[in-house]
Amino acid sequence: MNAVKDVFRPGLLQGRHALITGAGSGINKRIAERFAEHGASISIIGRNPEKCFTAALDIEGRGGQAAGFAADVRHYDALEAAFKHARERFGPVDICIAGAAGNFVAEAAAMSSNGFRTVIDIDLVGCFNTFRAALPMLREEGADLLAISAVQSSLPMSAQAHVCAAKAGIDMLVRSLSIEWGPRGIRCNAIAPGPVAGTEGMDRLAPDGERSWKRLLEGIPMGRAGERDEIADLALFLCSGAARYINGTVVAIDGGQVNLGSLPFGSMLMESLKPAKA
Ligand code: HXC
Repeated sequence: MNAVKDVFRPGLLQGRHALITGAGSGINKRIAERFAEHGASISIIGRNPEKCFTAALDIEGRGGQAAGFAADVRHYDALEAAFKHARERFGPVDICIAGAAGNFVAEAAAMSSNGFRTVIDIDLVGCFNTFRAALPMLREEGADLLAISAVQSSLPMSAQAHVCAAKAGIDMLVRSLSIEWGPRGIRCNAIAPGPVAGTEGMDRLAPDGERSWKRLLEGIPMGRAGERDEIADLALFLCSGAARYINGTVVAIDGGQVNLGSLPFGSMLMESLKPAKA
């Protein structure tokens, strides 16, 4: 594998099998790469087969072990079938990350019931489906579940009612599962990133490029976006033995954004919905 600037000891996840949904791109792809760099076998699950297979090939090209399996997290049976193939390939699952998400910028008054439900289905029901379908395939006593939430889970935000509702649901799902499955040795946590540069999510949320970002960064005490590597490092820590007593927690990784509130982010999104001036 390529040398990485790394604060962790090498081979932290050696011999472990990590199954990651939505890992064809963005944050989840970087988590997949990072985990492979640390010796895990990676099953990449996504609804776009080409993206999954390409991401897996990228990892293999850098000396890691990975395979892509196409399934939409909204469809339980397809997801379960993909997980079974993954287990046949790499053995029982040690780590399961529910990363698949969907987003668009829309005021609630301009959103259909189906639009709202679509995001709830992908994010919240998709997270439940992922963890539920993975459960019988986990190597119990030591298996780690991790959901990718977002600052929207605790920051009510204009033009994001659907995402706020879905991500808040994810946080409570994770906390509830930690109680039910903790006694079986399964830890269940979430991370709540703020804006992360170079992701499809932020391409959607900051469509005006530099202008949107400038507004957005005013609402982040650290004055900059997160990096995919920083999110991957947190995921790595939470899925390592160093986090063995952390269960049912949602860890914010947002440069302090939740402490300043959502006003700059939300007003930037509302502005992006206005028709462009001629
Ligand atoms: C209003 C919209 C809309 C928009 C879609 N809909 N886009 N409504 N404004 N901009 C409505 C449609 O009209 C439809 O309702 C319903 O949503 C379903 O739309 P489809 O296109 O049929 O759904 P689908 O093909 O399944 O696509 C799902 C999607 C899409 C979420 C709507 O945007 C998508 O595929 N996104 C790709 C994944 C993605 O978004 N990744 C970024 C995640 S980042 P009707 O009533 O017309 O049938 C993220 C992190 C955020 O979540 C945190 C950052 C800080």
